[in-house]
Amino acid sequence: MLVSATDMLKKAKAGHYAVGHFNINNLEWTKSILLTAKELRSPVILGVSEGAGKYMGGYHVVTGMVNALLKDLDIDVPVALHLDHGTYEGCYKCIEAGFSSIMFDGSHYPIDENIAKTRELVKAAHSRGLSIEAEVGAIGGEEDGVVAAGECADPAECKLIGDLGVDFLAAGIGNIHGKYPANWAGLSFETLENIQKLTGDLPLVLHGGTGIPADQVRKAITLGVSKVNVNTECQIAFAEAVRKYIEEGKDLEGKGFDPRKLLAPGCEGIKATVRLKMEMFGSIGKAD
Ligand code: 13P
Repeated sequence: MLVSATDMLKKAKAGHYAVGHFNINNLEWTKSILLTAKELRSPVILGVSEGAGKYMGGYHVVTGMVNALLKDLDIDVPVALHLDHGTYEGCYKCIEAGFSSIMFDGSHYPIDENIAKTRELVKAAHSRGLSIEAEVGAIGGEEDGVVAAGECADPAECKLIGDLGVDFLAAGIGNIHGKYPANWAGLSFETLENIQKLTGDLPLVLHGGTGIPADQVRKAITLGVSKVNVNTECQIAFAEAVRKYIEEGKDLEGKGFDPRKLLAPGCEGIKATVRLKMEMFGSIGKAD
């Protein structure tokens, strides 16, 4: 059964480790992540962007697929199904479709509007037993080929949003989505410390987990990060493994074109990436 992410992240914050949020795109992604979490006895958060939800056919397809996999694969570790960077409307759709957690990304609104919308969605999520993440300080990334630097959130604004009763908070500390440019300055631990001083026990979220060096991730965890989001790294691992299979001509050998064979190396690539991240975040064995 899906659970909200509140308890798993409270435990992570208290235990000084982080839970991995891995974005899903389809059945292969979901199965690979869930099987790895089960094998490693780790709690896990499945992230679904609005684009990925649409790609899979809609949010009901996602909840149907995830719930069925939990049952048929006998997944007995805590799993949350979480909307990633949700719009106001998307949050309501996912609450209705049976997600167990939502993120409302109001970081592009003026702070007053972010506060008003987040306050309303906190009520809507909590009344249905879901956890909710909010965001302050836009997280940069590649858009139309331009790589924007990660913004640093204002700690006072983080406190304002944190006080609305959100269960965890994404705050920009120089992190960005996708690959980091060679001249990236690294995470701003000073910002993170200032945010944590004002927000106390509130679990913090580190987006853009792809490519952040392990020592920086571990330091962020010691400073209050309890959830790390990873997307691009699984995509690259999947694509590299499938490309290698095709370049070696394996799809032309026997029934190598069978999708179950063709996509298998990609699934192994995702599993290996998830395992590495769970080791780095310290969540292995924390399910029980
Ligand atoms: P990456 O694609 O950089 O791993 O970021 C994932 C993320 O933050 C999803 O919200």
